[in-house]
Order: sequence, then C-alpha cells, then structure tokens
Amino acid sequence: MTTATVSHAAQTAQWTKKDLLGLRELSAEEIRLILQTAESFREISLRPIKKVPALRGKTVVNLFFEPSTRTRVSFELAAKRLSADIMNIAAQSSSLSKGETILDTVRNLEALKIDMLVIRHAAAGVPHLIAKHSHASVINAGDGSHEHPTQALLDLFTIQEKKGRVEGISVSIIGDIAHSRVARSNIWGLTKLGARVTVCGPATLVPPQIEQLGVRVTYKLEEAIRGADVVMLLRIQHERQEATLVPSLREYRLRYGIDRERLKQAKPDVLIMHPGPVNRGVELDSDVADGPFSVILDQVTNGLAVRMAVLYLLSGSRLEEEPA
Ligand code: CP
Repeated sequence: MTTATVSHAAQTAQWTKKDLLGLRELSAEEIRLILQTAESFREISLRPIKKVPALRGKTVVNLFFEPSTRTRVSFELAAKRLSADIMNIAAQSSSLSKGETILDTVRNLEALKIDMLVIRHAAAGVPHLIAKHSHASVINAGDGSHEHPTQALLDLFTIQEKKGRVEGISVSIIGDIAHSRVARSNIWGLTKLGARVTVCGPATLVPPQIEQLGVRVTYKLEEAIRGADVVMLLRIQHERQEATLVPSLREYRLRYGIDRERLKQAKPDVLIMHPGPVNRGVELDSDVADGPFSVILDQVTNGLAVRMAVLYLLSGSRLEEEPA
C-alpha cells in the first residue's frame, strides 16, 4: 500500500481516543486505521535516514514495572524515529521504591508536561486507572493477564502482511491461555476483524467459558494444528501462576510442544508466530522457531511500525501531515 492510499483511507476514519488501553474497547474500524497508519510508517525504517519530524516537540515516557525487551525497545525506537523525546523509567530505580504511589509518580511526570505514557504493570487495570487521572495519553504495554494491545496489533499486521487479509483466516493460539494478555488481546482483535480463533492448551491453562469470547476450544494439539493458517504459540507464564498448573515442563512439551514432526500435520503454508520471549525446547523447538514457517522476527520488525502508528495517532496528529 502506498502512502497516498493510506492517507485516503485514513481521511475517512479519524482517531478520537485519548488512550490505547485494550482491543476490547476498539471498533474494527479503529483497529484497521491503526494497521493502515502502520503501513505508511513501515517504509521509514528502510530509509538511509530513519527519522521523520512528525512528533517533534512531543515527550513520551516509558514506565515499565515488569521486564521487557521487545515492547520497551520498540516504543523507544518508534518515538525516536518520529523525533519525539523519550525517557525510560524503571520502577525499581525510581522513587516508587521509596514508597511514592504510582498516581503521585504520574502527577509528577505530568508536572514536567509529558504528552504520552507507555506503561507495563503486573496488575490488571493499572493503565486504566492512570488514564482516568492523567491528561497524558496512556498506552497499555501489558497489564497482568488482561491485555497487551500493541502486541495483538502487530500480530494482526503480520497476518495481514503474510496472508493478505485477516478476515476468514484460521488462527490457533496454543499454550497458557489463562494467564496470557497476548491471547486476550489477540482474541478481541482477531474476532473483530473476522478471523476464526481456536484456543488450545491443558485444561488447567484454558479459562472456563472462554468460548463466550467467540473462540473454539480444544485440548488436543493435533486438532488445533490441523487446518490452521496461523499457529501462535505462547509460553507458560510462571510469574502469574499461584500454583503449579502443569505437572512438568517435560510433560508439557510432550503434549503441547511444537517440533518438526508435529508441524507435518499443519497446512503447507502455515505461519508460526510467537510474541516472545520463546522458551526453546518447551512450547517450540529451535528448528521450528528458526525454520521457514516462522515469522517471529517479522513480528518484532512490524512492532516498530505499529508502535509508531499508535504514538502518531494518539499524539493528535492527522495523516494530512504526511510522514516526510
Ligand atoms: N512480546 C513482548 O511483550 O515481549 P517483551 O516482554 O520482551 O516486551
């Protein structure tokens, strides 16, 4: 898609929300607008000088209470490619460790006239709370087991890039569904755009009544793999489990791990996706993670364009001011 067609599409839909907290609260049109905007930003990272002035003068703060590699770095790079100023605050080395409340921290950041706050927190709902009390735009970079909207957006973008569409595509999400914010955001995004979603994992890791979100459930890996256009693997989120929910990683791998042999049951043009970090030899063997069907690193590349689009739209800019 050229910048001109993106611009035309974007002119027919306008971004109106202050925050990006989850895909549950977005319409299909709003999701498509983000994906179209990301399409126009993808090319900037291929230029010799990978920078445009779109967000010059805007200030973004990354506030991460949980570890991150992909999300934190790509938000930082996205802000820099758009010429915004960005600061990274690690909760452990901030005054939060001296007893300051999170709302006081945000109020102090606001006193410095920041424009956008990217937040990751172990507790579901923290970005929503901050958004309610802040004039800055808040972007949820993952809240507990609840949502990780930019991960799902980059997954949708990757599926659209590789398959030409999302509507009608069959996606199987396999692993720790119960504790996965990636699964939840993907279920909202995929179903809103017309994909067919199957979730699969041990019964202890699949939430009861998840069918109510419009997905099929199977506990048999073979059923999830067969006929899927996309197989999305998730790691077991030990950090969110209060009890041991699988007998052992070895047993999990035997029943739900994807290796070359199991991949033979998949469609010949299947996409293997994973949000990262991959636990090699557990949910995914290296020869599949690094094999010809894997688009795991394409997901990371696409995350940059998607996060540039999110920062751009939330900043209040419009595509009539085209990326130069
Ligand atoms: N996919 C993802 O959120 O990765 P990080 O935890 O490294 O940000």
